[in-house]
Amino acid sequence: MKRSIRDLVNLKGKRVFLRTDFNLPMNKAGRISDNTRLVNELPTIRYLVDKGAKVIICSHLGRPNGFDFRLSLWPITLLLMKYFPGKVQFAHKTIGPDVQEQVASMSEGSILVLENVRFYKEETQNDPEFAKQLASLADIYVNDAFGTSHRKHASTYGVPRLLPNAVGFLIENELNIIENAIKTPKKPFVAIFGGGKVDDKIGALLNIMKVADVILIGGAMAYAFLVAEGHSVGHSLVDVDSVKVAEEVLAQAKTLNKRIVLPVDHVAYMFGDKKEKTFVTDELSGEMVGSDIGPKTINLFEREISKANQIIWNGPLGKYEDPKFQKGTFKIAKKIGKSAAYSIVGGGDSISAVKQAHCVKMINHISTGGGATLKLLEGAPLVGIDVIQEKVV
Ligand code: 3PG
Repeated sequence: MKRSIRDLVNLKGKRVFLRTDFNLPMNKAGRISDNTRLVNELPTIRYLVDKGAKVIICSHLGRPNGFDFRLSLWPITLLLMKYFPGKVQFAHKTIGPDVQEQVASMSEGSILVLENVRFYKEETQNDPEFAKQLASLADIYVNDAFGTSHRKHASTYGVPRLLPNAVGFLIENELNIIENAIKTPKKPFVAIFGGGKVDDKIGALLNIMKVADVILIGGAMAYAFLVAEGHSVGHSLVDVDSVKVAEEVLAQAKTLNKRIVLPVDHVAYMFGDKKEKTFVTDELSGEMVGSDIGPKTINLFEREISKANQIIWNGPLGKYEDPKFQKGTFKIAKKIGKSAAYSIVGGGDSISAVKQAHCVKMINHISTGGGATLKLLEGAPLVGIDVIQEKVV
């Protein structure tokens, strides 16, 4: 088990480098469209503030190429100020003499938010000199950036190697819940996968298959499975590699005697024709593009969900951002929300779908990670967590 911030003694006056994942989704107008990651980070920040630490927050936002004011952490700092009035300052840079000066003038229980660490290319290169400069700002490193902990970057991997370290409450919580769900699942365990590329999810699919009773597959990736089973899918999005991956997953399911449930009908549109229509699987031909699961599939999936005691859902079941194709995803989100089963939802798109379907409060755990959650579901190590010291017992 990793060392937790609870295990850090004497935080009073200590400079704590807190790596958070404040990579919050922004809308087209550049406004924060979802603050879940920030709200889930508040307990760790509050704990450090209450202990009298000087909290230096470091995060990335987006994937900038050099300095880009649209990806500044300033708007996120403004949001944080609402939760900690009078305690938060912003540094216009991430390293350098100005930042050193700001850190030197911090009082106990105050917070300094550094500018987007990815404005420096050295961050993603895990540059040792850059890591040294970041580490020189602090006495202790805390990783609570669960969503970024699969990245071997300077602030997630280089810095913790240079400082005494621990994980924050958000990471502890994510690890406890997701690892438990895989190691000791409540049965029947229904896993639901959707979204785009099946290759991104193969590790998670194969690992979860070992412990899940049924796997329901929807979204764009379902078409690769349907092709692998010999069905026609019209012009629905499928690439050759995905079909190979789907074949591998289906073969493994057969070996393990696990059930994979694929869509039996679809809401599709035809090129040049704006009107969407519902088709059963083999009617999808020619110019048709499957874009949501159809009513029969919704029923089928709902029946499986109602038998579950544990559900893990990753990836939307259709192009839910288009009102014409959101019914499947929203209905399934609601069904999961209403079910008595222990439910975990992971991946940026599924979270936003759950929000739009107004059932956030009905889900037991909404993971803040995208790629990191998938890695954990795969049972793969997360470099930014592996690097943290073990708890001394
Ligand atoms: C995420 O949103 O998944 C994390 O913040 C990681 O972002 P990245 O994929 O740009 O590294």
